[in-house]
Amino acid sequence: MLIRKPPTIVGSEITPESVYHSRRQFMTAGAVGLAALGLPLGATAGWQADDEITPENIVTQYNNFYEFGTGKEDPAAYAHEMTTDPWSVEVSGAANKTGTFAFEDIIKGLDVEERIYRFRCVEAWSMVVPWMGIPLKDILAQFEPTGNAKFVEFKTLYRPDEMRGQQGFFSSIDWPYLEGLRMDEATHPLTLMVTGLYGKDLPNQNGAPWRLMVPWKYGFKSIKSIVSIRFTEREPINTWKQLQASEYGFYANVNPAVSHPRWSQASERRLPSSLFNVNRRPTLPFNGYADEVAHLYAGMDLRKYY
Ligand code: MTE
Repeated sequence: MLIRKPPTIVGSEITPESVYHSRRQFMTAGAVGLAALGLPLGATAGWQADDEITPENIVTQYNNFYEFGTGKEDPAAYAHEMTTDPWSVEVSGAANKTGTFAFEDIIKGLDVEERIYRFRCVEAWSMVVPWMGIPLKDILAQFEPTGNAKFVEFKTLYRPDEMRGQQGFFSSIDWPYLEGLRMDEATHPLTLMVTGLYGKDLPNQNGAPWRLMVPWKYGFKSIKSIVSIRFTEREPINTWKQLQASEYGFYANVNPAVSHPRWSQASERRLPSSLFNVNRRPTLPFNGYADEVAHLYAGMDLRKYY
């Protein structure tokens, strides 16, 4: 069931059906336009004046999902080979309710909201996407994590016969794909478990039937096609850190001041981007969500904890 709720979260907003199709004007109109539409001005915090929704065909055809290959076009070409129904999820670790659950049972009764978030990949491209999803905190709460749950680890499906990128010697990734969040990051109101895009079910290449969306972190934290949730006391390992710890850390907060060892993170290419119109813009600290999340890292050296 799709329920559009009034905006409660600064830095995101819900778009009523009636204005969905005029979103281009809506997005570029900024604060004045939002006020005219009766939306609270608070909803404009973190917006850049020229934020526009990225065309759907780019979001669904230019992907990273290494289980289907390393090319940006591979996921759209091969992800249909993955079976997403039935889908079960194993919940384990420091929680009162653990076990194997059907995906439908976990999300049953929880409201799906639309949130427009910027999304910044570590490879320095970015998008603005109308995600449909459930706040992760509402999903995690039903498992009743205990006081020992300081982190939460997520795992992607491992099924080489349906995921050609998991076959053979070519891949250097130690499957399954793993990601983790600190508990306060996981339960932050901005953190979404995504089940759809552009008002539709989530396409396989974007991580069906559900994937994370942590808008202030580099894209690799937003793990796709999740089959395992584990509450842990210690910081879990994540795939990209495991692969190359000098380049990718656990935190992965978007930070224009800290370059990747092989390229700058000071700016990004907002898609659509072409040779003639690169559409380059400065990257914002925490991807523009600093007002909402910077306090989570107070006192931490973000050069060390990258
Ligand atoms: N999740 C899994 N399981 N496998 C992946 O290769 N790639 C990550 C993230 N989640 C990835 C993943 C990276 S690097 C990015 S940038 C985003 O997914 C891309 O999300 P999108 O294709 O929906 O834009």
